[in-house]
Amino acid sequence: MGKRDLPISRALVFFMLLDSLLSFAAAKASCRFGVVHGNTLYNYSLASPSAEFPHGILSEDGFYKVALNGTVLWFQLCSNMIFNHDQPACFGCQDCGGSSRCGMTCSALVSNNIGGYDVCTAVGNASNSQISLIDENDPKKGVLAKMVSSGKTNNCSLSVAIFCDSSVVRVPTSFNLSGDCNYATELTHPSGCAITVAVGGKGLGWFGTLLLIVICLLGGHILIGTVYRFFFLGIHSIEAIPNLEFWISLPERMKSLLGSIVRRFTSQSGGTRATYAPIN
Ligand SMILES: *[C@@H]1O[C@H](CO)[C@@H](O)[C@H](O)[C@H]1NC(C)=O
Ligand SMILES: *[C@@H]1O[C@H](CO)[C@@H](O)[C@H](O)[C@H]1NC(C)=O
Ligand SMILES: *[C@@H]1O[C@H](CO)[C@@H](O)[C@H](O)[C@H]1NC(C)=O
Ligand SMILES: *[C@@H]1O[C@H](CO)[C@@H](O)[C@H](O)[C@H]1NC(C)=O
Ligand SMILES: *[C@@H]1O[C@H](CO)[C@@H](O)[C@H](O)[C@H]1NC(C)=O
Repeated sequence: MGKRDLPISRALVFFMLLDSLLSFAAAKASCRFGVVHGNTLYNYSLASPSAEFPHGILSEDGFYKVALNGTVLWFQLCSNMIFNHDQPACFGCQDCGGSSRCGMTCSALVSNNIGGYDVCTAVGNASNSQISLIDENDPKKGVLAKMVSSGKTNNCSLSVAIFCDSSVVRVPTSFNLSGDCNYATELTHPSGCAITVAVGGKGLGWFGTLLLIVICLLGGHILIGTVYRFFFLGIHSIEAIPNLEFWISLPERMKSLLGSIVRRFTSQSGGTRATYAPIN
């Protein structure tokens, strides 16, 4: 039974992975991500609505906003930002909607105060966001959504760590800057938790697989040999089985082999006694 389960569960994993790959294009919009860890498929669907969060991980305001040291970061996950209020008013917003629609054509924007002026920099676009695990070894921790933007003057990125907590929501309150324009922030949200699917996988291991192959080859050999001898050599008796003498003599051979091993063992442990002492 275990052997029969095996190919089915392998196939299941295969098709699930295929499904994940095929839905990769859609993943940009739907923010889906799947990973197999151990015998479990972790299926993340950041933008999926739930009873409590009809927009999933997406901020209902249309954007998340974090201000720090005179720098303001706006972003939205899985989508472009929408501003019905508090629209960013900074210079140089060409990469993200221009002055009239500033913030509306990208998914992450930073405003820096430079010499008394607020200057905008687009740092990310949901259309090229990537999702990975926060901790490769612990899918329960949550996922990392990374988006990038290649502007005319610099390459920017925003990484958002989405920590899984089934009951707590913590909005981002701070961010880190590394390099010229690589921002990182974090939040806690139930949407960062995966739906898990058991994918079985009681693997046979290499020895079991080898044994299975040997048994199959042997079975095939006997079957084909028997058919050949029966129909083409016309042997219509039990003799049709190939190497019958060998199979019949097998128990006897095993016995004598075992016997010689036992004899060798006892003669060695017998010390100075004669090698082949007659047994009465
Ligand atoms: C992952 O979840 C989404 C939405 O809940 C679903 O449409 C999709 O089929 C799931 N994928 C797998 C491999 O279970
Ligand atoms: C984001 O992607 C859209 C379409 O994919 C593109 O029109 C827009 O210029 C991009 N914005 C940035 C800042 O890369
Ligand atoms: C942005 O990155 C691309 C490739 O990674 C590189 O070719 C380009 O020169 C970079 N642009 C700037 C302004 O650093
Ligand atoms: C904010 O200011 C503090 C202290 O001046 C500094 O250590 C920190 O790196 C700054 N953070 C950012 C994101 O610029
Ligand atoms: C900023 O970096 C520090 C040190 O690497 C880390 O502990 C902290 O969680 C980071 N904060 C954010 C908002 O990513």
